[in-house]
Amino acid sequence: MTMIAFPAGFRWGTATSAYQIEGAARTGGRTPSIWDDFCAVPGAIAGGEDADVAVDHYHRYGEDVAWMARLGLDTYRFSVSWSRVLRPDGTPNPAGLDFYSRLVDALLEAGIDPWLTLYHWDLPSHLPGGWLSRDTAFRFAEFATLMHGVLGDRVRIWTTLNEPWCSAFLGYASGEHAPGHTDPGEAITAAHHLLLGHGLAVAALRAADPQAQVGITLNFGPVEPADPEAAADVDLARRIDGTANRYFLDPLFTGAYPADVVADLGPLGPDRVIQDGDLAAISAPLDLLGVNYYTTSMVRAPRPGEHADRPLVRGRVLASPHVTAPEAVTVSRAIPVTAMGWEVDPEGLYRLLTRLQREYTGPAGVPLFITENGAAYDDDRVLPDGTVDDSDRIAYLDAHLQAASRAVADGVDLRGYLAWSLVDNFEWAHGFGRRFGILGVDTDLRRTPKSSAHWYKEVVRSSRIEP
Ligand code: FCB
Repeated sequence: MTMIAFPAGFRWGTATSAYQIEGAARTGGRTPSIWDDFCAVPGAIAGGEDADVAVDHYHRYGEDVAWMARLGLDTYRFSVSWSRVLRPDGTPNPAGLDFYSRLVDALLEAGIDPWLTLYHWDLPSHLPGGWLSRDTAFRFAEFATLMHGVLGDRVRIWTTLNEPWCSAFLGYASGEHAPGHTDPGEAITAAHHLLLGHGLAVAALRAADPQAQVGITLNFGPVEPADPEAAADVDLARRIDGTANRYFLDPLFTGAYPADVVADLGPLGPDRVIQDGDLAAISAPLDLLGVNYYTTSMVRAPRPGEHADRPLVRGRVLASPHVTAPEAVTVSRAIPVTAMGWEVDPEGLYRLLTRLQREYTGPAGVPLFITENGAAYDDDRVLPDGTVDDSDRIAYLDAHLQAASRAVADGVDLRGYLAWSLVDNFEWAHGFGRRFGILGVDTDLRRTPKSSAHWYKEVVRSSRIEP
């Protein structure tokens, strides 16, 4: 095992999200979210799957917490199903709130800090207009206040949104995610309302509890031009970086959308929806920035007459070229890929962390946490002793932890690492066929540790005793 060095107090854990693991879709008064609706659309999800049962975490949370404790983890990032805790008539649902209260108690009893993400994509279906409605941002802040009222005595770390790029661009421009719209202007509108909702929720949480740790989690899609000398490739990479990365970082850290992206957007741009005070709310100071990192990509401009890639593929070309850029060709770099087709580029994590520290979080004095990192592979093998051999996943995690520890050695203020994911789960449009867990799930829903779980336990243990 590679020795890795992280500062004292470094957090170690795993991450999940409500819709991907809970199941119990119609239990305890839960009503549908946009993901329940989207799963019912023919062809939306591979194999026509849905997450009605998922991995039944709603009933098996005790077992899942016990696994985390056995692995020696100290932090668990989970999300709340908004439509489980809030009824369509706007009143709180006690049964739903009670589930999260029991989960949080179980975590604390096991010595694990709960890290609560308010929004991981499962918007209640009953909110009219979804993220196209400005009102949803205000409803989101009320939801934050509700959750803090119930759990704020025990939950100290809060993430407002998980990956608003996905909610906006995959949900409203490419149609790969709920609610499945394909209108680039809608993506820009949704992105602004998501960010506004974030800002209003930060204010609500601060008002309720000045000591709470509040942040947001972004997904980053570092992108490089295939030919750094070719102006068209360089411009394409700039546009993609602009929409995927700077379009969220800039308003959060500087209080303005990036001018070059706004210019590219022309009449689709955010000026249509920005109101006085919005950007001040959005750029409220943060206590932390969550980084979700899986891969990077290399792009080039298509040659005349060449057929370009499908422009939007999650995790690869993290941008929406049909919003701000011409079509892109993703250049395969002849490096290993995961089952998602995502190229394995640990060095990209080093570059990302050092860039964030240099350009955004360092100047703002905001620490970084890796809130997701992991890989799906198809070749998990069940061994005679009942464990699952997943050496590819171990190699992936190990390489990324090494890259992260080098970033720390080079001055990046990185304070924790949460592996995606604790358990195999519903991988959105890919259904259950893409497995990211360090625990596997049998057909009878029993959890089985993969070798990566044992390996991770050892990494965490040794990092606590090594200086
Ligand atoms: C991220 C999501 C998470 C999971 C991983 C693989 O984009 O936040 O829910 O699907 O990708």
